[in-house]
Amino acid sequence: MLTKENMVELGQKYSMNTFDRGDRVMVSGQGSYLTDSDGNTYLDFISGIAVNTLGHSHPKIANALYEQSQKLMHAANTVWYEPTIKASQRLIEYSVLDKVFFSNSGAEANEGAIKLARKYGEETKDKDATEIITMKQSFHGRTMATLKATGQESFHKNFGPHLEGFKYVEFNDSQALKEAVTDQTCAVMLEVIQGEGGVNTVSDGFVETIKQLRKEKGILVILDEVQTGIGRTGNMFAYEQVNLEPDIMTLAKGIGGGFPTGAFLAKNYVAEHFKVGDHGTTFGGNPMAAACINTVLDVMEEEDLIKNVNERSAQLKEGIKDLMKKYDKLNSIKGSGLLIGIEYDGDVKPVIDACYENRLMITSAKGNVLRLLPPLNVSKEEIEEALTKLDQVLAD
Ligand SMILES: Cc1ncc(COP(=O)(O)O)c(C=O)c1O
Repeated sequence: MLTKENMVELGQKYSMNTFDRGDRVMVSGQGSYLTDSDGNTYLDFISGIAVNTLGHSHPKIANALYEQSQKLMHAANTVWYEPTIKASQRLIEYSVLDKVFFSNSGAEANEGAIKLARKYGEETKDKDATEIITMKQSFHGRTMATLKATGQESFHKNFGPHLEGFKYVEFNDSQALKEAVTDQTCAVMLEVIQGEGGVNTVSDGFVETIKQLRKEKGILVILDEVQTGIGRTGNMFAYEQVNLEPDIMTLAKGIGGGFPTGAFLAKNYVAEHFKVGDHGTTFGGNPMAAACINTVLDVMEEEDLIKNVNERSAQLKEGIKDLMKKYDKLNSIKGSGLLIGIEYDGDVKPVIDACYENRLMITSAKGNVLRLLPPLNVSKEEIEEALTKLDQVLAD
């Protein structure tokens, strides 16, 4: 049996140094709690960064994985699988889109969306109509295309030469967007709420401009709902809150409840531009992933989790408002549902470290924002506990 010190040492020795993992080793999780190798229990308000929709070790997810693995784990995308057909149908019926393609991650979902939009532009407008406008402070992933789609220079540095065809505008700057659109533009790509970029929500005015540009210039709207999708913001999809129907939407994170899977969905008039051989994946949409997606959706329906998200969100926001009266370093509350940001006046790292010490896990977003992402089935008592722990940290 490895000691904690051994594990951290071996982890550092054998893993690439791309994450700041500190010195905690997590060994198990149950509901909203994680337990480390010293037996300490943490209230997890990160949820694997918006992944563990149903908390940790949900018995129905565990059971779905077990049962599906007994039947069929993987064949190839040269055949159909029943769980995948069901998952496709359900995602389509929940959304305004018509066709789905499953991927393994958010970045891969976005890669597929970018490819599809480019082909659409080429075939409906012009050979060169492949340019995509994205937002400053956006985050779309770490692959070569999604890294360049991400409107933050710090992610591009050192990794050139880059893929061409991306242009950036200030989020919610309608004038800048209008000026950026040319005959070469095939799509505008954005998050309804920028998760990593600071928990910034798209404005009504910007939504109107996007709709107008879609109508007048025939550009597609790609919504990256990798972080916001599947109930996180208090609707099944965040676009419902801002009344902006996507032509293409990407999902990942919470959709598999912890199992790595993603998807991009499109309207028929866009999806039809993909022909056999245009896109592919070995693992995407395999029956294990689909079994998890179906289970997440089952539990969301059975337990009316969207209602819970809205009730717990109101409770959390109320509690944060009370904390704001006590601590003037808390500037504002951002976000929606259980994707909540607290603008903090100062460096958030010491606050997050102190929260970990106080057995509450929270994360950050750009611009000194503390980001809270509890599971969608978080209880009233757990929200209370998180607020108490945060209060204790801020008091120190
Ligand atoms: C909005 C958004 N898009 C894409 C991604 C990339 O997803 P993945 O890490 O699964 O590739 C993320 C991850 O944080 C995200 O928040």
